[in-house]
Amino acid sequence: MSAPRRPVLAGNWKMNHGPSDTARFFADFLNRLAPADDRSVVFFPPAISFAAAREALQGRPDVRLGVQNVHWEASGAFTGELSVAMAKDAGAELVLVGHSERRHVFGETSDETAKKVRAVLDGGLVPVLCVGETLDERNAGRAEAVVAEQLAPVLSIIRPDEVAELVVAYEPVWAIGTGVTATPGDAASMHHAVRERLAQAFGREAADAVPVLYGGSVKPDNAAELMSQPGVDGVLVGGASLDPGGFAAICGAAG
Ligand code: 13P
Repeated sequence: MSAPRRPVLAGNWKMNHGPSDTARFFADFLNRLAPADDRSVVFFPPAISFAAAREALQGRPDVRLGVQNVHWEASGAFTGELSVAMAKDAGAELVLVGHSERRHVFGETSDETAKKVRAVLDGGLVPVLCVGETLDERNAGRAEAVVAEQLAPVLSIIRPDEVAELVVAYEPVWAIGTGVTATPGDAASMHHAVRERLAQAFGREAADAVPVLYGGSVKPDNAAELMSQPGVDGVLVGGASLDPGGFAAICGAAG
């Protein structure tokens, strides 16, 4: 039997918490969260707040940082973008790739997502690949097909020896920021489908090592039930990660 996957508790702040709010957040949050090595806590602050977050987290290696997006090119005339090397230099260990807001608000395609995953792996960081269907796609019975279509271009550019670096986050678009959460059963069934795709591409053992997180209206009062589902290895939290007490409670719900 493979080693159990450590729960991952990740907060995606999106376009919230500038540097001052970031310092205030961590002053409060770190008092509520005792260091522990049986779980992995990660924040994705806005890029402009990254230095404030890193400063606040000195002495707390149990809490890691990532960036919300990167460009696949190494450098150049790409106004407003960040490269993987810059993110790494700033102290990022992980990168969100293909978040539903990148796909649906900013028009990112699955092929662009794949190029970003390639760049993140080449740069030695961990891609957190986000996938998920819209409500129309779910109602049309296409949820698993859509997620498979989003996974395919990425899985085709990953080498077998790189699978251990991958994290997948299933975030149904209709559950993000809406207060509507996937039922624990729906989440478990999609997580199973994602892991089957990974197993088809890379074999069972490699697939079993990939953390698959759930995201979409995760709150302190539903986190424990979601994380108790088979194959749900943690959560990617938006709104509820902005509040130190709320996110500490979600971290406490793991295990
Ligand atoms: P909410 O938790 O606000 O629904 O956002 C989820 C999300 O998009 C995390 O990446």
